[in-house]
Order: sequence, then C-alpha cells, then structure tokens
Amino acid sequence: MSISRSYVNAFILLALSSAALGSPVLAQDSTLAATPPMGWNSWNHFAGRVSDADVRAAADALVSSGMRDAGYIYVNIDDTWEGTRDAQGVIQTNNKFPDMKALADYVHSKGLKLGIYSGPGPKTCAGFEASYQHEDQDAKSYAAWGIDYLKYDLCSFRNIMRQQAPHDQEKQNAMMKEAYEKMHKALLATGRPIVYSLCQYGWDDVWKWGPNVGGNLWRTTDDINDTYTRMADIGFSQLGLAKYAAPGHWNDPDMLEVGNGGMTGDEYRTHMSLWAILAAPLLAGNDLSKMTPETLSILTNKEVIAVDQDPLGKQGDRASAVGMTEIWTKPLSGGAVAAGLFNRDDAEHSVTLHLRDIGFEAGAKVRDLWKHEDVSATHGSYTVTVPPHGVVMLKVSR
Ligand code: GLA
Repeated sequence: MSISRSYVNAFILLALSSAALGSPVLAQDSTLAATPPMGWNSWNHFAGRVSDADVRAAADALVSSGMRDAGYIYVNIDDTWEGTRDAQGVIQTNNKFPDMKALADYVHSKGLKLGIYSGPGPKTCAGFEASYQHEDQDAKSYAAWGIDYLKYDLCSFRNIMRQQAPHDQEKQNAMMKEAYEKMHKALLATGRPIVYSLCQYGWDDVWKWGPNVGGNLWRTTDDINDTYTRMADIGFSQLGLAKYAAPGHWNDPDMLEVGNGGMTGDEYRTHMSLWAILAAPLLAGNDLSKMTPETLSILTNKEVIAVDQDPLGKQGDRASAVGMTEIWTKPLSGGAVAAGLFNRDDAEHSVTLHLRDIGFEAGAKVRDLWKHEDVSATHGSYTVTVPPHGVVMLKVSR
C-alpha cells in the first residue's frame, strides 16, 4: 500500500469514527476534488437518450481530442440509467446500460473516472428509480461497479419533505440535510473515494452547509440551458459566494453548454471564462464525438483552464460594474489575478482595467488568455473593446 493510499484510508477511518461520535462528517479525503472537478456529463446533450455506447464514445473522444490531457477526467452518466430493484432490493441498470461494471472498467482503462446519478427520493427527476431507503445498498453497488463520482438530485424527496413536515420549512430543511448526510455516510462506508455532488438547486443556502454533509460540490441554481440569457443569468448571479468555495468544496453553477449550438463563439467564451473565474466544475455537456474546432479550442484553452484549476482554490467575484460591463477577478497562486472583462450588452463596449484597482502597479505583466499573447499596460491601465455578450480574459502578474 502506498503512503498516500494509507493516508487516505486513515482519513476515511477518522471520518467514520467522528461520524459515529456524532461530530460533523468530514469530507472523504483532502485530495478528493482538491480543484473543481472536470469532465463530461451526459445530460445537457443526450438527456434521457444516453446509452452505454454514448458514454463509451464520450470516453474515447475525451482521449482522442486531448480533453483528458487538458484535465477532463470524469465521465458522468446523468439520469435515466436506472432499472428496477431485484428481490433483495439491489438496484439494476436498464437495458441502455447492460453492464455498468464493464463500462466502468472501459472508462478506467482510458485513464478516466466514471460518475453516476441518483437522488434521496423514491424517484429521480426523470421518474427513474432513486435511492430512498436503499442508500447503503446503492452506495455498495456503486463502489462494486467502480464508480468515482455521484450526483445526488433532490427531486422527489421534496414530496417526502412536504408529506412528513407540511408547512414546516425548518423541519423540511433539516430532513433535506439529513438525507444528503445519509448518502455521504453510505459512500464513506464503502471505503471508495467517490466525489459527492449535491444537486438541490441551492435551496436553503446550500453553500453554508454543503461541506457539513460531505458535499464536494453543490449546485447553486436551477438548471442551465443552452441560451445566452440563462447562462448569463446564472453566471453573473453568483455574487458573494466566493467565500464558500475551497479545495474539496465548490459552488456549482451547473454544467457547461459550450458546443451545444445555442450560443455564439463569443457567448461560449464568456461561459467558459466566467465559470473559470467562479472556480466552477468544468463538466462539458456537448456531444464530444461531433465537436467543431472552435468548440474544442474553447473547452481546451489551457490558460483559461489554469484559472479554474488554480491550486489556491479561491473563487472569484465581481470587482466592478459600469453599465452593462462587469469586471470579475479571481486571486491566483503566486500573487497573480485573473480578470474577466465582460460585456453583457448587445453592442460592443470599451472596457478599462485599472491595475491599481486590483492591487498592481503600472508595468505589471498583463496577458490575454484567449489571444494567448501579452498586452501592454505600461501606463497602469488596459483599455480594450469587448464584443457584444463577449469577454476579454486577462491574467495580471508581477
Ligand atoms: C435535474 C437536474 C439536472 C439533471 C436532471 C435529470 O433537473 O438539475 O441537472 O440531472 O434533473 O433528470
């Protein structure tokens, strides 16, 4: 057993014994989701149609496109893989997924990890079997299959909350937290490191209690869709959440829509840049086997990905807003700062970044992360024209 593996096991034991003593549940280990998870999820493109073949094709494409090597490691199956339970209550896959263990083996053989989806209610959002009263059994099945990531979606548990605590919001919130903690304990008990993704749309300020129930990430909003309006509504509304993000614990403004066809290149660059500044999980949601060169270049911009994945693990926030333009900044390791100059208007605008506003002197190094070139800010500011719904993404360092 390697040192790091035994350290992880010791940490899990510590977490289990502290859970048994009733103290707060610790995250599974300090290395799980040390930076925001990156990968792919089936929902935004395939929704209820996803099959074993689609997941294998996504895994193949992650490798052949270079996305895996850019950091996209998780291959996450969303809703609609679930079958019924056998006589012992063990969850089965449906006929779109003939053999989940074989699929996990295939995904692992590519140097990738496999994610799955369930929820604390009796049914998932798409009406498939979920984990209510089968949490331990399901966690064991996931571990036995070789699952590395679980997205756990509230959905029909809301009905249970309403039935059991009608008109008592406080009690309902407590039930919700308990349900999330229950699955976390079940995952811990398997001994397999499984990233735990809470999906309950931000209810009851999940960012304040997500870590206490074992969440590595938690959705902060309702669902995204492939329109500029919805993406911008979600992304630019993440004000004030930065202090709740840290290594192992991330705010999740939902998965990427880059490449799904509903936005322009500038809009998708805004999406990717904003998510990087938010230290958001980068879960591509497009059909990876049919990507245009532009889609691939947006998803694999290494300089933008490095902002998202910066080891300091600080989420960015809005620094200023003038009319329909906004500057968002994110502290990076080594004293650098990423700055997104966003234009939310339908017409182009000139935007100026004053270096002293973000703690730098004239002469600091300024780099344009989409053009991949250094730009000049010798007089202490940088002024640039930003296209409609577009962004200029900069990294400033000494
Ligand atoms: C909810 C979630 C989505 C997706 C669907 C699946 O709407 O928020 O991300 O998982 O359920 O049914």
